[in-house]
Amino acid sequence: MLKRIHYISSFVKDMSVNEIKEISSQAAKNNAEKDITGVLMAKGGVFFQIIEGPEENIDRLFTNILKDIRHEKIITLGIQIGDLKRLFPNWHMKEINLDTTTSERLQPVKAIIDAVHAQAAIIENLTEALAASAWAELLDLTTKD
Ligand SMILES: Cc1cc2nc3c(=O)[nH]c(=O)nc-3n(C[C@H](O)[C@H](O)[C@H](O)COP(=O)(O)O)c2cc1C
Repeated sequence: MLKRIHYISSFVKDMSVNEIKEISSQAAKNNAEKDITGVLMAKGGVFFQIIEGPEENIDRLFTNILKDIRHEKIITLGIQIGDLKRLFPNWHMKEINLDTTTSERLQPVKAIIDAVHAQAAIIENLTEALAASAWAELLDLTTKD
């Protein structure tokens, strides 16, 4: 049984190319021991990561990732579980810095990350607005039905 998680998150503060490399090289070392593979992309202060591996190991890793103070606003984009074929069988954690790459082939990926991030920001604003006041009113209304 394999599990795969895709998520995006935002840097808490600016990170150098080397700091990002450091995260992925440490990740690759840990992941090799846990049979985890994946990719970590960074672009304009946003991480996009895919992790895949045995369910228990992925759950444990993702719990750590959620607590990591180097990033915030983590939004899960997808979780798959089952008889999956690995997308990244050869990479324990491939790092791709989209701010420095010149690869033409990666241009569509950049556009997708921008679009996902913009959408996430809209959803976050809406959720915050609801949390601030409207939830209470909405719930109040429904109790009168
Ligand atoms: C964006 C991001 C991606 C990460 N990806 C991984 C990963 O794939 N594997 C990993 O072991 N740690 C990863 N980490 C680090 C974990 O959050 C955590 O620091 C680490 O798993 C703790 O390992 P340790 O208990 O061996 O110190 C990532 C951190 C960040 C900020």
